[in-house]
Amino acid sequence: MYDFKNTIDRRKTDSVKWDVKPNELPMWVADMDFKTAPEIVEAMHKKTDQAIFGYEEPQSDYFNAVANWYEKEHNARPKIDWMMFVTGVVPAISSIVRRVTSVGDNVLVQAPVYNIFYNSIVNNGRHVVSNDLIFDNMAYQINFKDLEEKLSDPLTTLMILCNPHNPVGKVWSKDELIKIAELCNKYHVKLLSDEIHGDITFSPYTPAFSLDKDLIQNLMVCVSPSKTFNVAAIHAATIIVPNVNLRNQVSRGINTEELAEPNSMAIPVTIAAYEKGHAWVAELKQQILKNKELVQNFLETELPEVKLVPSDATYLLWMDTKAVSDDSKKLADFIRSETGLYLSSGDVYRGDGHDFLRLNIACPIDTVEDGLNRLKTGINNYKG
Ligand SMILES: Cc1ncc(COP(=O)(O)O)c(C=O)c1O
Repeated sequence: MYDFKNTIDRRKTDSVKWDVKPNELPMWVADMDFKTAPEIVEAMHKKTDQAIFGYEEPQSDYFNAVANWYEKEHNARPKIDWMMFVTGVVPAISSIVRRVTSVGDNVLVQAPVYNIFYNSIVNNGRHVVSNDLIFDNMAYQINFKDLEEKLSDPLTTLMILCNPHNPVGKVWSKDELIKIAELCNKYHVKLLSDEIHGDITFSPYTPAFSLDKDLIQNLMVCVSPSKTFNVAAIHAATIIVPNVNLRNQVSRGINTEELAEPNSMAIPVTIAAYEKGHAWVAELKQQILKNKELVQNFLETELPEVKLVPSDATYLLWMDTKAVSDDSKKLADFIRSETGLYLSSGDVYRGDGHDFLRLNIACPIDTVEDGLNRLKTGINNYKG
């Protein structure tokens, strides 16, 4: 019913992704080449037609739309008064780092992980401590012994969890979330769960706010329609904080930093996405599965030295390239200069990322095919 086939020319449209040379094919940043849901565009037209763009504040229909979406999509309903509007997940993370930790504290992450977490920590004068994920038998696991050791350090005051985990595409299980939350509680570490990728999941995903009451008193969850519906430049996200004291602290942070006021499109887009976007997301997920299957088959038959890490979330694929090179930056730069295919080099995510490349498959299947052919040429030329 929806269009996930047609290619849209995004060159010279101020797109960060498509600011590339004529022969280049960008498959790096988490930005889809699909038009967003027409229901969202309709809501934007309605807003534009009114032609007044004064100050706005989200009302109960915004928060109800968020809660209803989580209830319908994920069987978990956040309470209305737990929620705050914010102008993006990264702004929220940076603000929370500043508000709930002190300069010089340790903030724990699990590398390889979304590279911007490091900026939010380091640019604010905090230290990064990583509980590196273990890669074994083509799957990532949490080293809980190491996690406990690092959380027990009195200088560790915040953990940033990525669920589902970008770039490895893993949905953490409810049991794993309980263990993480218990450890954070035990050592008085606040837990910030970035769940921006939660809607594009192919196995059960448990929003952290749905855990038992005593496990969510230190918890802050960030969600947004931006990845799900390709509306990143709308700058709309929601922070969910069950504990009232912590919520007030976070709220003071985002308000003093002027991150709590929506632009004219943020509210209509979020409400339309969450109220009318179910069918669009269901179709999107089917297309992503098809694209992933194509990649899987291609790599197995045409490029067996590159291994696809099995994943159950996101449209970002994590490819193990260690049989070709343990220097992903060198490899990614080479592939780009030889073939024009622009991938994310795994090293920016730290941990074992130098052995991996990340491929964004949220594009028409013909584009995926083009990317795969370029990848094959690039890898073969690299090997010489
Ligand atoms: C894990 C994660 N968090 C946050 C973001 C960006 O969030 P925002 O655009 O709302 O700042 C991304 C974008 O790729 C992401 O992968």
